[in-house]
Amino acid sequence: MSIILIGFMGSGKSSVAEALGLPVADMDVLIAQKAGKSIPEIFAEDGEKHFRELETAVLSEVSDFDGVVATGGGVITTEASRAILKKQKNVFFLKADIQNLYERIKNDTENVRPIAQNNDFGGLYDVYKKRENWYNEAASYVIETDEMTACEVAAAIKEIVC
Ligand code: S3P
Repeated sequence: MSIILIGFMGSGKSSVAEALGLPVADMDVLIAQKAGKSIPEIFAEDGEKHFRELETAVLSEVSDFDGVVATGGGVITTEASRAILKKQKNVFFLKADIQNLYERIKNDTENVRPIAQNNDFGGLYDVYKKRENWYNEAASYVIETDEMTACEVAAAIKEIVC
């Protein structure tokens, strides 16, 4: 059984994937492996369009993965990836307030995110608003995560799929 986590940057997809205690397919890691370079390098050298093509290719490879798939925040921006998600039953949108997301993104020094680097709060808010409908449409379930720990979100997901 495959559980797919979607949501904006900073929504905790990777932490929740880990907390679920299942095998994890982290799409950003797989994309970087496929390209043989880091995500910032793909954006800088090949452009976002190429990144999105790799993202769709990886999504189609892992969409039936037996475990949990942590997607990248922009996976819902392409028609091709949305079509793949549409066929899945367990797509969880980890929803959070944009102010909280912004704080988490800003404080996350480990993860270099080209889309976040090029945007201040207003810019990220616009990106979020553009994507919000796509997240909701792609989701089989929406989890409001603002008041929850990663373990609590994982427990809520388990309750639904078990
Ligand atoms: C992106 C989100 C990132 C990564 C890439 C693009 C986006 O993943 O895929 O930097 O467009 O929102 P996270 O959501 O895991 O940060």
